Amino acid sequence: MCGIVGYVGRERGQVLSTLENVPPAVEFADSSADEGGRHGALDVVMEGLRRLEYRGYDSAGVAVLTPSGIESRKKAGKLTNLVQELAAEPLPRSLTGIGHTRWATHGGPTDQNAHPHLADQGRLALIHNGIIENYAELKAELLAEGLTFISDTDTEVAAGLLGVIYRGLKDGGAKGDVLTLAMQQACQRLEGAFTLLAIHEDQPGVVTAGRRNSPLVVGLGDGENFLGSDVSGFIDFTRRAVELGQDQIVTITPDDVVITDFFGNPAEGTEFHVNWDAAAAEKGGYDSFMEKEIHDQPDAVGQTLLGRSDIKGNLVLDELRIDESILRSVDKIVVLACGTSAYAGQVAKYAIEHWCRIPTEVELSHEFRYRDPIVNEKTLVVAISQSGETMDTLMAVRYAREQGAKVVAICNTNGSTIPRESDAVLYTHAGPEIAVASTKAFLAQITAAYLLGLYLAQLRGNKFRDEIATVMEDLTEIPAKIQTVLDNADKIKQLGADMSEAKSVLFLGRHVGFPVAMEGALKLKELAYIHAEGFAAGELKHGPIALIEEGQPVVVVMPSSSARNSLHAKVVSNVQEIRARGAVTIVIAEEGDTSVEAYSEHVFYVPATPTLLAPLLTTVPLQIFALALASAKGYDVDQPRNLAKSVTVE
Ligand code: AGP
Repeated sequence: MCGIVGYVGRERGQVLSTLENVPPAVEFADSSADEGGRHGALDVVMEGLRRLEYRGYDSAGVAVLTPSGIESRKKAGKLTNLVQELAAEPLPRSLTGIGHTRWATHGGPTDQNAHPHLADQGRLALIHNGIIENYAELKAELLAEGLTFISDTDTEVAAGLLGVIYRGLKDGGAKGDVLTLAMQQACQRLEGAFTLLAIHEDQPGVVTAGRRNSPLVVGLGDGENFLGSDVSGFIDFTRRAVELGQDQIVTITPDDVVITDFFGNPAEGTEFHVNWDAAAAEKGGYDSFMEKEIHDQPDAVGQTLLGRSDIKGNLVLDELRIDESILRSVDKIVVLACGTSAYAGQVAKYAIEHWCRIPTEVELSHEFRYRDPIVNEKTLVVAISQSGETMDTLMAVRYAREQGAKVVAICNTNGSTIPRESDAVLYTHAGPEIAVASTKAFLAQITAAYLLGLYLAQLRGNKFRDEIATVMEDLTEIPAKIQTVLDNADKIKQLGADMSEAKSVLFLGRHVGFPVAMEGALKLKELAYIHAEGFAAGELKHGPIALIEEGQPVVVVMPSSSARNSLHAKVVSNVQEIRARGAVTIVIAEEGDTSVEAYSEHVFYVPATPTLLAPLLTTVPLQIFALALASAKGYDVDQPRNLAKSVTVE
């Protein structure tokens, strides 16, 4: 998830030729035009990047069109690093520009990997948000054509492809808006999720873009037009916006916005007025980053799944730099994590043991190294961390490596410390998670852990390729199922608000529902500051049932009735037992499971899905419940008291 901005403008009173004939010849205003001139491209782009920095902040860059061609500046690190770079080496005034804040997926957060990427001998600049699934084969094709690459990114491959297509069209005599034609043809070759913006020195006053499965919106001005990943990119300059559809190309000039499909056929966008204030715009119109990130979850899971199979259908992982023979010899897996990430590990345990038949332990990082654990070169450690900076987990990883274990990190922050100190990494692609309480990263971590489990099952022969393909197909249906849960969340949201006076809430779950219950309790503790506790449902009669009294709210994560049937019947009995003692039962159940209704005050259904994948759906109502209850209490759900997004002390 990256921040993208594009801008084209003309000086006041300047008249330009329209788009369909030769590219507009824009005189480059000298500094005297400032008083009467439009915004400069750099002003707009940098302001937009500042507002979009929440979408990605591991590097940033800009490119503008100047009389001497394209000039670009880019720097790793926060946007302030780019600001300092621009202060040290200013760019001349321009009226055509693009800018990018990066949340690294392919390639670490370095100056070289920062966008924009140049092509066509530096005459073309391109920025990108998303993941290009077929970048490896495209890169091989371009290398064979003699192109060279200086970065590790899929974006530079897209830039190279666009440059080659553009040059081929020009050499073939193409006239007019060749850049748009090239973008159309390039997008026809790309697979995955992408929003691409490009400028070319031959066409001042033109920015062209293509999008599939990745956000892009147009801002309409007077003698100037804008592009942004979302409206925050230009909300300071216009509130007139155009929403684009899937597989569309949009080309903006100061007076034109032309939309087509990937094949040049005219297409339409939907114009709307942005009535959010700038702060709300950064949250996508939601009241909090927490709410936004809960609604980002279909995308977080979908992006994490992208690009994980090669053309033969074998699973491939980001950077698994562990010899396959070592992975085959592993006789134990130890998951190291804290908090929500540890619950993701708990879910992973059920899947990995079921698929791979490898004993899997889940350890709280801060406990692990103080209990003299049995770890050796046959142990595979899986370190799960959203931030990649949690000191407890980092220290546990170091300890495990000293004992000879190999370490795979599952991490959401490219280039952070834990992946750097691991033998391999599987990045989640949830995008930056701003709210302290983790939501989208949790679902992305579970997804990545499933991928690791399937990869190990494939490598060790526990599962055939067709069996893995079946699970992968089930996983690709999850984003739409999460969206269904989100679209039907009003009831659980209302219940959360209605229960704002609750003094404690208990959460019960069984099998993969048990870590979900623990996570639901943690969300409520973190956000609403009330006592909440998750239990294994089977543990109830061994003590916790003494907590049940009249009116005690109990959330129950019901197993699917189509799984291990005994589990479902046992949990129904648990619900009856607590109901008989006065509990207010709130049940999360699978669509169609009407057997629970007789014992439930409130039932919330989630779409049917294979048992091991159910946590990706049953967690969502619990997140919404906690958010609504805390919001009703008037608490700051993005920055809960006493908490930090990354715990970098032991
Ligand atoms: C989750 O809601 C919490 N903010 C916290 O438990 C978090 O999951 C834990 O601190 C681990 O953080 P990490 O994933 O960045 O390592």
